[in-house]
Amino acid sequence: MSLLDDVTKLETEVLERIGQADSLASLKELQVRYLGRKGPLTSLLRGLGSLPPEVRKQAGARANEVRKRLEAKFSEAVEKFSAEEKTSSFDPTLPGTCQQAGTAHILNQVMDEICSTFHGMGFEIARGPDVETDYYNFESLNFPPDHPARDMQDTFFVEGGRVLRTHTTPVQTRELEKRKPPIKIISPGAAYRNEAISTRAHASFHQVDGFLVDEGVTMADLKGALVAFCRAFFGEELKLKFRPSFFPFTEPSAEVDISCILCKGKGCQLCKYSGWLEILGCGMIDPAVLEITGHDPEKYTGYAFGMGVERVAMLKHKITDIRLLFNSNVRFLRQFF
Ligand code: DAH
Repeated sequence: MSLLDDVTKLETEVLERIGQADSLASLKELQVRYLGRKGPLTSLLRGLGSLPPEVRKQAGARANEVRKRLEAKFSEAVEKFSAEEKTSSFDPTLPGTCQQAGTAHILNQVMDEICSTFHGMGFEIARGPDVETDYYNFESLNFPPDHPARDMQDTFFVEGGRVLRTHTTPVQTRELEKRKPPIKIISPGAAYRNEAISTRAHASFHQVDGFLVDEGVTMADLKGALVAFCRAFFGEELKLKFRPSFFPFTEPSAEVDISCILCKGKGCQLCKYSGWLEILGCGMIDPAVLEITGHDPEKYTGYAFGMGVERVAMLKHKITDIRLLFNSNVRFLRQFF
């Protein structure tokens, strides 16, 4: 039967040509020529319709079988050539494509540095929840019921009467309730305030609070700890200034300014020509806070402090817009890799 003979001849011819092909391109070209829409096998299959039914079935089966076999042969040969081309095109003199390893975000780096500096001074690390009760965020810290910080404008209120903590200070009363002095703790974490976002302020930011409660703790211990920290973190030649201030949970309270790290106190744009930069709040823990957490204020005293991580990071790394710390711009972040 001539049709079946044609198919067999075609198969032999194609197999032979595949064997002779010397490149991927010539192989692809062969594939299109023999198995493509205009190839002999396709037209042969198309012509089957005009054959008598008994012949048609047999010839059709045979042609399809050959087509499948040839397709398999082609893919096998293509694969072999591609693998060869891959290895032969490898140029060992080209520079390598290396994977860029990631690092911690600059805010986390700064937070880790603050914590490890205090850790080296004997502080333990404790954390508290971001969604806080009114009691821990305000009441236990001696905020009067009508204190402006409780205002709708500052605080994010959550269903069920809770708040997004406005500072990390509530960890202080949570830990004081659980422990016996001496207690020496540092607490890093996020805080939230309903503020308009600007170059200097963000509605979600980070703080590190710290405190020490023991017998005989004085303001001199507070000053000693903060001077040691600031010099370790910003540089040994740093000067500190303790300015009287007010916080409901400390008495007396102070804010600490450091000599400007850019102009060293001479006056520049960063320090608004004052020579000083404000970096943290602190004070002696108010006896009311010790009392409400079950400690005898006649026996124990303590100091506390709190700082904004973004503020400290911006000063240390001369970052002029707080939003750069939140918008995940890799070109900016890569500076701190
Ligand atoms: N919680 C204060 C704030 O967010 C900062 C602060 C001041 C924390 C004095 C303290 C402290 O622990 O003693 O502004």
